[in-house]
Amino acid sequence: MVETVEWTPAGVVMIDQTRLPRQEVYVTCRTYQEVAEAIRTMVIRGAPAIGVAAAMGVALGMQRAPAAKRDEYFAQVCDTLARTRPTAVNLFWALDRMKRLYASLRGRSVQEIQEALADEARRMKLEDIAINEAIGRHGAALVPDGKTVLTHCNAGALATAGYGTALGVIRAAVAAGKRVDVFADETRPFLQGARLTVWELQQDGIPATLITDSMAGHFLKSGRIGCVVVGADRIAANGDVANKIGTYSLAVLARENGVPFYVAAPVSTLDLTLDSGAQIPIEERPAAEVTHVFGVPVAPEGIRVENPAFDVTPYRYVTAIVTERGVARPPFQESLRRLAGQP
Ligand code: MRU
Repeated sequence: MVETVEWTPAGVVMIDQTRLPRQEVYVTCRTYQEVAEAIRTMVIRGAPAIGVAAAMGVALGMQRAPAAKRDEYFAQVCDTLARTRPTAVNLFWALDRMKRLYASLRGRSVQEIQEALADEARRMKLEDIAINEAIGRHGAALVPDGKTVLTHCNAGALATAGYGTALGVIRAAVAAGKRVDVFADETRPFLQGARLTVWELQQDGIPATLITDSMAGHFLKSGRIGCVVVGADRIAANGDVANKIGTYSLAVLARENGVPFYVAAPVSTLDLTLDSGAQIPIEERPAAEVTHVFGVPVAPEGIRVENPAFDVTPYRYVTAIVTERGVARPPFQESLRRLAGQP
C-alpha cells in the first residue's frame, strides 16, 4: 500500500497528491512552513492525514527551536499549521495533542523534548492505521454482499496514514470475502475521486467504476447501489457531518431511494463541542479550482465563483456513523457521546 506520510531524518516525506495518478512523486518538507504549505495546497489532504502531517510538522519545527523563547516558537509553529485548513477537526485535535505533550515536558532538555515530539507524531501515524483497520472491521458487516458501494471524494489510504476510513470499510468487506464493487464520484472540482480513489482501488484489484458527480442520483435510483460510504472532516454532537462538497446531495438522494448512507470516521473527527453542523467552519478554496481544470480555463474570464470545499449533511440523512470503537446509530446525540466516552 502507498505510504502517505512518513517521518524521516531528512524531513516529513509525503506523496504529492496533486500529481497523482499521473506521477508518483514524493516530496520532502524540511521545515514546518513547508509542511503547512503542503497541507494548504493539498499535496497532502484528507482529515486524518492532515492531522498526522501537522503533528509531524510540529515535531519538525521544534528540531530548530531556538533555546531562548522556545515556548513562543512552539506557539508560532502550532499557529502556522492551524491556519492551513479550517474544516477538518483532526488538524486541531492533533495540534492539541502535541500541545498537551509539550506542556508535560517542561523542564526537560531540548533533545528530550525533540525526541518526545517526534515519537508522538510517529505514534499518531501508527495509531491512525490501527484505527482505520478497526473502522473497517466494524463497517464491513454493514456492506451488502454482491452489491455496489458508492463513495465520494477520497477517504482512502491517501486521506489517512494508511488503509482509509470509507475505503477501509470497503477493503475490510472484500477481505471478509464479500463480492463488492465500487462506484466512485469524480468529485469536482479537485477530482479526488477520479485521481485518487479509483487509483487506490485499482492498485488493490477492487473492481471500481468512475462516474461524474451528477450521475449519482441516476445510479442510486437504479437499485444497483447497496449502500453509500463516505468519510468525514468534522461531526457535530447531533450527528451532522461535514464532508467533501457534494456529500449532502448524495445523502438526500440515498434517502429518497432507500439506500443506507454510512459515514466512516475516527473518534478524533468528532467535535462534540459543537451542537450542530451549522457551527462548522466551511473552507472556501481558490476560484481557479473551479474555473480551470489542470491549468486549462473552462469558464469565461471574470466570472464570479464560489468554491466551498465542504458541505454539511444533516444527521437525519445519516444511517450510521462507523468509528474504531463501534457503530453509532440515531439518536446520535447519545450514541456519539457514549463512543467518545463522555457522560
Ligand atoms: O479537501 P479534502 O480532499 O481534504 O477532503 C477530504 C474529504 O472530504 C474526506 O472525505 C475526509 O477528509 C475524510 S478522509 C478519511
